[in-house]
Amino acid sequence: MMKFPEGFLFGVATAAYQIEGAADEDGRGRSIWDTFSRIPGKIHHGDTGDIACDHYHRLDEDLDLLTDIGVGAYRFSVAWPRIFPEGCGAVNQKGLDFYKRLVDGLRERSIKPMLTLYHWDLPQMLQDVGGWTNRDTAFRFAEFVAAVAENLQDDVAQWVTLNEPWCSAFVGHLEGRHAPGEESLAAALHAAHHLLLGHGLAVQALRAANVSGEIGLTLNLSDVTPATESAADLAATARIDGNENRWFLEPVFRGSYPKDMVDWYAKRADLSPLHEADLAIIAAPLDFLGVNYYEQHVVRAEPSDQIHGAAKLAPTPPLTDAGVPIRPAGLEHILRRVSAQYRRIPLYVTENGAAFHDYITPEGVVDDPERVSYLERHFAVVAECASDGVDVRGYFAWSFLDNFEWAEGYSRRFGIVFVDFGTEQRILKSSARWYRQLIAAQ
Ligand code: FCB
Repeated sequence: MMKFPEGFLFGVATAAYQIEGAADEDGRGRSIWDTFSRIPGKIHHGDTGDIACDHYHRLDEDLDLLTDIGVGAYRFSVAWPRIFPEGCGAVNQKGLDFYKRLVDGLRERSIKPMLTLYHWDLPQMLQDVGGWTNRDTAFRFAEFVAAVAENLQDDVAQWVTLNEPWCSAFVGHLEGRHAPGEESLAAALHAAHHLLLGHGLAVQALRAANVSGEIGLTLNLSDVTPATESAADLAATARIDGNENRWFLEPVFRGSYPKDMVDWYAKRADLSPLHEADLAIIAAPLDFLGVNYYEQHVVRAEPSDQIHGAAKLAPTPPLTDAGVPIRPAGLEHILRRVSAQYRRIPLYVTENGAAFHDYITPEGVVDDPERVSYLERHFAVVAECASDGVDVRGYFAWSFLDNFEWAEGYSRRFGIVFVDFGTEQRILKSSARWYRQLIAAQ
């Protein structure tokens, strides 16, 4: 039997654009994902989040499902374009009302709300003036955060400023696979800095509003190992680590960008928008760090790669059905590393999970033994780290529901609850039943 510390939070996670649907309802404005998902070829099958899990209309049913599974916490995000349809200016009260209903519903069911303020759905009108590459966006974000804080002040147990700023910056502005779909290193670095500044300003806004919950940030951290011990592979690995992990951890916990990466990037992009003085804001003390874990990369030097001079080796089995290596040890390395190298801070695993090809049997059942095993092995790592003194206080499975998986559309099922996207029927998978037992056994 796995043992977890007293008070350990067993949760599930979602994000607004991936589940809510109701894209044109109650005054919601458009986000960069509404735009991006309409560009031919960007999203698998041309899917959009217009309807998604229709969670906006099925809130009570979904909250009852959370009770049915028995989770102690629920991580969700607030859609900025529901609150400020134009990105700034007038508040849309109906948008705030929806999230008030959500947190009230959680309280009635004794489930702790963990609220993410930015899970990638930037108002399109802010993108029209440069989005995250524009410094002003950080200040607009802080205004949005203040409006949410004022309305939900004492209703939220944990506030997460940003979800995975690495993805917003580098997948959205360098790789171009996510909204807004740019492909420029300079744009990615400027966006990353403004996201970090936005995070720091959001922390200030939450502290100024005197919110009663804890305040933190969620980073996607990757476990990065060299393909060989050659000097070139080690240096390439340090650069991938520098990009995916240290570029965010160090400003937040040490108040500076990693020197090796600054030198590397300065030869490839204009870093003048990265104002030194912002670092004091970015490094404001936090109450916790959220860790999203999906990836372990094995890295080799690749001189032809213009950006990092590095390449990731093709993934080897065991893999999820999304082709991602299943490596619970990577989560262990990350938790131990963050706890040892950075300011000792409470950790929550705010996302971890896997996509498999789930289907309903003729008997109406969804069996996902691969996901049960995935969750079991990752939970075991968390329990072991906790018993070894790593201050990890909770785990949120990604995801509560099958949902709109960004560029992969509805083709990747990550839920512990199956969603039939034709009828919107929900069916607990065996992983949800396994989770219920794990929680009940505590
Ligand atoms: C993470 C995202 C989340 C989901 C999972 C599979 O990068 O934060 O929204 O898409 O991946």
